[in-house]
Amino acid sequence: MKRLALALMLLPGLAAAEVTDFSFSFDGPFGSYDRNQLQRGLQVYTQVCANCHGLEYVAFRSLADVGGAALSEDQTRAYAAGVEVPDGAGGFRTGIPTDYFLQSAEEHAPDLSLMAKARTGHAGFERLWRGMGGADYIASYIAGYREAPACAPADFPGFYNIAFESGGFPPACRDGDGNPTVPGSWTQMEPPLIGDDVTYEDGTPATLTQEAQDIAAFLMWTAEPKQDQRKTFGLTAVGFLAVLAWLLFMVNRQIWAPYRPSRAAKDEDW
Ligand code: HEC
Repeated sequence: MKRLALALMLLPGLAAAEVTDFSFSFDGPFGSYDRNQLQRGLQVYTQVCANCHGLEYVAFRSLADVGGAALSEDQTRAYAAGVEVPDGAGGFRTGIPTDYFLQSAEEHAPDLSLMAKARTGHAGFERLWRGMGGADYIASYIAGYREAPACAPADFPGFYNIAFESGGFPPACRDGDGNPTVPGSWTQMEPPLIGDDVTYEDGTPATLTQEAQDIAAFLMWTAEPKQDQRKTFGLTAVGFLAVLAWLLFMVNRQIWAPYRPSRAAKDEDW
């Protein structure tokens, strides 16, 4: 145990991170994706994040899925046609709906297909009612850039971010026991969004928090495209089992009714 605690302490910059609990349409057992929000997130991804990050496990055709961004067939075809995909022979060709999004264009930028599942925003028991919080984490990270704290040397590499845990951390920002005195750490990703980075087709004002939540929702969808179906199926199953349990209870009562002692007989026994 001691050794584990020591190992945890030695992890680089493992500081408390500040993750905001955003209110997403897909939160909770009854929540579902907001189609317009996913379309806005797709727009942010395409115009900003795709410069560095890939989505190599997502097929263009899934953009047409109901329970997702639900683009029309024409829109999906047009989207795919807007991307130059590798033709397998070292060259490029125009994309078609059955192709996949590209791999990351920047070496150190991770693929984002499953990122919302690979990160957590909530800790411990909170997860029981709030979920893992992958989308909360991504939105907090994108909107989590702050002026570097005074304790950090001016030339410390990276960008200070209060939601990012695993980046570089200047020793000068630790107290005598080695505990960080500021939340977050320094990430290598320069702030990708500052607000008004895109002009939303549906007219929604593109504030930084709006964009951050939209791209986070979109990345939640890429990581779990069938979430809506899963929830509907789960609720149907629970409903069915509840009815079945009630039926069995009633049948059981009916069957054993003739053998059940009446209340009066029971009292006599005592
Ligand atoms: C200029 C290139 C670039 C752009 C544009 C960019 N990123 Fe990144 N991103 C990076 C790099 C590099 C990293 C690795 C950062 C690190 O590990 O410190 C990264 C890391 C990430 C991570 C992983 C963080 C973690 O916890 O490990 C997420 C999530 C992410 N980016 C989301 C986005 C989103 C969303 C956008 C679009 C709004 C975006 N990025 C735009 C370069 C970029």
